Amino acid sequence: MSLACLRDYELRAHSVLPKNALDYYKSGAGEEFSLQLNRDAFNRLRLQPRVLRDVSCRDVSTTVLGCRVTLPVGIAPTAMQRMAHPEGECATARAAGAMGTVFTLSTLSTSSLEQVAAAAPDTLKWFQLYIYKDRKVTQQLVQRAEKAGFKALVLTVDAPVFGIRNADVRNKFSLPPHLALANFTDSTTTHVNQTESGSGINEYVNNLFDQSISWEDVKWLKSITRLPLVLKGILTAEDAIIGANMGAAAIQVSNHGGRQLDGAPAPIEALPEIVRAVGDRCEVYLDGGVRQGTDVFKALALGASMVFLGRPAIWGLAVEGEKGVVDVLTLIKREFNHALALAGCTCIADIKPNMVVHESRYSRL
Ligand code: FNR
Ligand code: LAC
Repeated sequence: MSLACLRDYELRAHSVLPKNALDYYKSGAGEEFSLQLNRDAFNRLRLQPRVLRDVSCRDVSTTVLGCRVTLPVGIAPTAMQRMAHPEGECATARAAGAMGTVFTLSTLSTSSLEQVAAAAPDTLKWFQLYIYKDRKVTQQLVQRAEKAGFKALVLTVDAPVFGIRNADVRNKFSLPPHLALANFTDSTTTHVNQTESGSGINEYVNNLFDQSISWEDVKWLKSITRLPLVLKGILTAEDAIIGANMGAAAIQVSNHGGRQLDGAPAPIEALPEIVRAVGDRCEVYLDGGVRQGTDVFKALALGASMVFLGRPAIWGLAVEGEKGVVDVLTLIKREFNHALALAGCTCIADIKPNMVVHESRYSRL
């Protein structure tokens, strides 16, 4: 049976992935309230289409941090992609390039940033950073990312500790022994081991990441690089304003795919206040729960200039490697193009805030 939408990819991926990897990829934190909310909140929004507007010629391209992309959907950083496919991050990066959009590589990748740069030299690549207790580790990653041609740094700010993902605790999650965190060479940083106490990834993070990170580290990062800085994981106007004041080029509104603070709002709920607070000073993106073209439309109408896919890229990768990720991006691009037409728009600039309303607008009938 052919796969017609991202949900089809999800079901197929769930049937082919080994349990340890599948549970890691799909889990949210705690009772997975925020994970579910990421979908529910999109579904509480209604589209108000305009009609009879000649939509025969349509263009879904846009720019992100000054670079042209062919669709307003990029790839969010997700860790350890070689558990899904032997070519892992290299395949995902090539797929993003083939589709003309941006790929974000995780610090915790199973292909090194140099391998990804060599495999996908023409892809627009960003590098996601975690801050290690040993600042030299992070500083070296920044220097290597600059040298390898990555065009932005995405600092993840919502993970001073990792969310508690119960399935990983039950599975005693560890990275399969033939894989390693490829950006490192020392076994304390390359290995995500089995632990008696629970999830190996939580133990890794709690041992190595710095829980004391603060806005001072954003200042520090700005002082050691010229690359534009994206702050990923902001959910309040207050933090967006501090970030913009510190010179962030973009704010990525995200709850980490519901994997960190269970009970946090869905990014689509937090987006409007953040756009109001900083939208005139920096770019605002969204990730979390984007599964169809109409979700992209809703996020753009509420002021995001770009959205990012986390799990759906892993599903494509698990099902069919690079081709699967190309397919996932193609499907969502086609759906978004379709949503534009049916809403009466020919390009992204035609999408207006009043084309999306909360369902409560109709509840008084
Ligand atoms: C993530 N995410 C993530 N974020 C980050 O900054 N660095 C990382 O290494 C990872 N790793 C990671 C692994 C897995 C398996 C998932 C599902 C997520 C979060 C990711 O970038 C993004 O915020 C969410 O995945 C977006 O939600 P959706 O699209 O998965 O609903
Ligand atoms: C996660 C990390 C790696 O969500 O960010 O598992």
